[in-house]
Amino acid sequence: MPLYSDHRPAPNLGHRTNRRESRTFAANNRYSEGNMANLLERVGGQEAVNAAVHLFYAKVLADSELAPFFKDSNMERQHRSQAKFLANVMDGSATNVETYMRNAHRPFIEKMNLNEIHFGRVAGHLAATLEELGVDAETNGEILTAVASLQDFVLDRTVAVAA
Ligand code: HEM
Repeated sequence: MPLYSDHRPAPNLGHRTNRRESRTFAANNRYSEGNMANLLERVGGQEAVNAAVHLFYAKVLADSELAPFFKDSNMERQHRSQAKFLANVMDGSATNVETYMRNAHRPFIEKMNLNEIHFGRVAGHLAATLEELGVDAETNGEILTAVASLQDFVLDRTVAVAA
């Protein structure tokens, strides 16, 4: 089975399949000193990230403050871009993150006043998703710190540089 297929049904919160995916996510999410595995391997690879992205977007689209941003989006495409991007960030292979994030979100700052309130809500849904999938608090915190570091790019702001 391909890692990601458009024909694969989205995980259903109350369904057995989803509980199995949750265990996979959690079972691979062990961190100990000297464990050199990257974050992607620690959470269970691309498959686990795909499952997380499905759950995450269910929450985003159920949030009336965020849903309007995605009203014209092809969500299958969005899931795919997002899952690929997150996996690349987690295994360290992402390039041009700053430019990519600034360009992807700039139209929504201009058209829809995308701001830190929306960013905070998105980060909150991500944290809830990771917790639901059994990611331990330490790893969840690490992922959220990484996400927080993207805020200035997503909101297309000047990044303060320490003197
Ligand atoms: C750390 C936070 C975020 C990350 C990592 C992120 C990541 C991404 C990525 C990878 C894309 C796809 C770009 C492409 O290939 O076309 C994207 C597009 C988008 N993002 Fe974000 N995003 C973040 C925050 C937000 C926030 C706070 C909002 C506002 C609700 C938002 C709304 C959108 C929209 C509307 C699109 C375009 C969807 C489309 O092409 O139809 N994002 N984002």
